[in-house]
Amino acid sequence: MAEETKDTKSSNQMWGGRFASGPAAIMEEINASIGFDKKLYAQDIRGSIAHATMLAHQGIISGEDKDKIVDGLNTILSEIEAGQFEFSRKLEDIHMNIEARLATLIGPAAGRLHTARSRNDQVALDFRLWVKEELQKTETLLTNLIDAFLDRAQEHAETVMPGFTHLQTAQPVTFGHHCMAYVEMFGRDRQRVRHAIEHLDESPIGSAALAGTGYNIDRHMTAKALGFREPTRNSIDTVSDRDFALEFLSIAAICATHLSRLAEEIVIWSTAQFGFIRLSDAFSTGSSIMPQKKNPDAAELVRAKTGRINGSLIALLTIMKGLPLAYSKDMQEDKEQVFDAAESLELSLAAMTGMIRDLEVRADKMRAAAGSGYSTATDLADWLVREAGLPFRDAHHVTGRAVALAEEKACDLADLSLEDLQAIHPAITADIYNVLTVEASVASRKSYGGTAPDEVRKQIKWWRSRN
Ligand code: ARG
Repeated sequence: MAEETKDTKSSNQMWGGRFASGPAAIMEEINASIGFDKKLYAQDIRGSIAHATMLAHQGIISGEDKDKIVDGLNTILSEIEAGQFEFSRKLEDIHMNIEARLATLIGPAAGRLHTARSRNDQVALDFRLWVKEELQKTETLLTNLIDAFLDRAQEHAETVMPGFTHLQTAQPVTFGHHCMAYVEMFGRDRQRVRHAIEHLDESPIGSAALAGTGYNIDRHMTAKALGFREPTRNSIDTVSDRDFALEFLSIAAICATHLSRLAEEIVIWSTAQFGFIRLSDAFSTGSSIMPQKKNPDAAELVRAKTGRINGSLIALLTIMKGLPLAYSKDMQEDKEQVFDAAESLELSLAAMTGMIRDLEVRADKMRAAAGSGYSTATDLADWLVREAGLPFRDAHHVTGRAVALAEEKACDLADLSLEDLQAIHPAITADIYNVLTVEASVASRKSYGGTAPDEVRKQIKWWRSRN
């Protein structure tokens, strides 16, 4: 009780251990973003140079001041890149750190840079530029992964493996066809990336705090100088919009989900029980206690990073959901989510590309597994429909009896004698054995998008012409 009274009375004591200077220090710590937004230094400087150049062009600042500002900003850029810049938490964020240094370098002219802009449109600009570049990087990384899959698919257009539904052997497919399924998935991701670049390609700068500005600025000029298609149309929306970050995170989450499914397959395929693939030493690790082990750590980590990326998307959606227009400081929390997700996604895409390029395909194991589990039962039923004119439902029933008999005899469908099969249905002839092999099964599936090697090669060609 006595303890409690003491604590309540002098509540600042609760902070005391850590914050010698009390509430002001806490404010500084919660308010500062320089710890993470220094990542935006290049975009911030680029934006300021474009802004100052436009201000001079419009006669809002003098050419002489503009030159000093541009020179100073270029000096700061070199200082930061050489690791010689001292970032200060007292100056809150990257914008004020750079502006303060500019004042030290060029004196009063520095004070003219912030004419007709606010940190609200400045941060919207910097972050948009950063996300745009990240999307462009993601596009390239996706293309690399797609290329790796196209090469493996080409190489294995005829390699038979079991296709699964419910992770139960369903029908034989080719490894090439399976690879091409991932090409479709990552191809869609890449389309989403390209659309997102188009969506965000509008310049925020000149929206100022939220209402625009009374100075005679030229937003088309800054948009062009910064490589944007055009300026944004509504200044209120511009400073309160983080859709471009949400879109990046949504795309990242979907892509990470694809990567995670692939990672899961790699983990399963590389087990002794499946044995479909062998991972290269470069993308696996040993166990510190069990000498025989080769663990698919890279795949497991890719699978796990999906959790972080999904978390970032949910975090930013939650940050934004209750905000009134226009800017609120909540939005400062957007950056770490995007930076972390971007780092995780880049790493995952690169690791996966390495794994796909390096993995050894064990065609013998795949083929053996493809033939087990009565995977050609549908081919038997289809033969009965095609050659003996049975309705599919009846053919399904007859095939079911053949599977039951094979199960009873503990053999494959192809090992049943002709007499046994004819006892189940008299229309069956020796021709049936031609469709019961996995190769025949795969070759027969020539429907558009099907698993027949020639179809798979057509899919590869289609993608190569678009890559
Ligand atoms: N560091 C801030 C952010 O990341 C910059 C914008 C500050 N704007 C303001 N009105 N306090 O959002």
